[in-house]
Amino acid sequence: MQIAKRMEPLKGVLVMEMNMRLAKMKQEGRDVVNLGVGDPDFNPPEHILQALQEAVGHPDYHHYPSFYPNQPLKDAIANWYKRRFGVDLDPNREVLSLLGSTDGLFMIHLCLLDSGDVALVPDPSYPSYSSGVKVVGGQVEKVSLLRENDFLPDLDSIPTEVARKAKMIWVNYPNNPTGATAPPEFYQKLISWAKAYDVTVVSDNAYSEVYFDNRRPVSFLEFPGAKEVGVELHSLSKSYNCCGWRAGMVVGNQDLVAALSRIKAHSDRGMFYPMQLAAINALNSSDDFMEKRNQIFQERREVLVEGLNKIGLKTYLPKATFYLWARVPEGYTSQDFCFKALEQANVWMIPGSLYGQFGEGYLRIAFTHSVERLKEAIRRLQNFFSQ
Ligand SMILES: Cc1ncc(COP(=O)(O)O)c(C=O)c1O
Repeated sequence: MQIAKRMEPLKGVLVMEMNMRLAKMKQEGRDVVNLGVGDPDFNPPEHILQALQEAVGHPDYHHYPSFYPNQPLKDAIANWYKRRFGVDLDPNREVLSLLGSTDGLFMIHLCLLDSGDVALVPDPSYPSYSSGVKVVGGQVEKVSLLRENDFLPDLDSIPTEVARKAKMIWVNYPNNPTGATAPPEFYQKLISWAKAYDVTVVSDNAYSEVYFDNRRPVSFLEFPGAKEVGVELHSLSKSYNCCGWRAGMVVGNQDLVAALSRIKAHSDRGMFYPMQLAAINALNSSDDFMEKRNQIFQERREVLVEGLNKIGLKTYLPKATFYLWARVPEGYTSQDFCFKALEQANVWMIPGSLYGQFGEGYLRIAFTHSVERLKEAIRRLQNFFSQ
């Protein structure tokens, strides 16, 4: 059998491979603190679970999703965007549900790029952006996210000839892996820059509901002109502690939403109807639980930052997400350090190099564990450093 050449750039996803390896290590009796997990350790709110259970138990809800009305979910998404961000969306033309935001973020490249087209991709960033560009034959131009720019892309530093050639730009705030957020001025500038160069903006806002100090992140679509130049992806995964559900959305520019909808009509058959009903329940419900959950994440953030700084790991305080971006100690590459810490201290963290060239020198630490477990990880790392 010959596998198509376009598959060559598609490597395995290290984070997922490691999760499987760590689960195996656990079965073999090894107690590893897995600080790589980007999946909240809290349950989804009870009433949402009940909505799902009831819907799954309904004997008539197991046909293709096209047998059921999809309007209620589109309306719930539009209403949520209005309530949360003050953004008006036409549920029929500017909203599309996704099987998790990964579904849309991968497929969107098919809608925007022909072979050889340039896509601007932040570095470091979520690896699926680059993979999506490459698999459709696009060309990745990296846009560095540097500490001195608060991990925001410096649009002025993108050479004019590259900006002119580019068909799309990825932005992701709150940011995985750095935990940075973007201020309104950034989006305003991005929109006029995108208009000037005719570049489509794809904003990944998967972490908008995990934030600290009551500073709620904004949406790209809040700013005038956004819908003319792009779309935003969002997901229930991190907002409602339900990564396994595969429920997400793309909203914004109607031409791009329509194009993605055409692709998805062929690549899947829509969201399982009980899942749609649970997602509607989630989006229509109060956000009270998020405040409590974010409070717990904030406490963990404080414990980790203080503990790691004390043992000599320099960290940057994330404004949102459940990730801490930390400097790798002198004398190690990020991969060396993470694999040594796994072998010798039974603590797993993600090497920054996994997120790109400018991720080298950093590691990503997820605080999706209890304070006790995080303190245990810090103790283990302290012993590791003292050896
Ligand atoms: C930046 C970013 N975008 C998108 C996703 C995908 O989320 P989902 O497919 O669960 O909606 C993730 C998952 O970790 C992520 O970190």
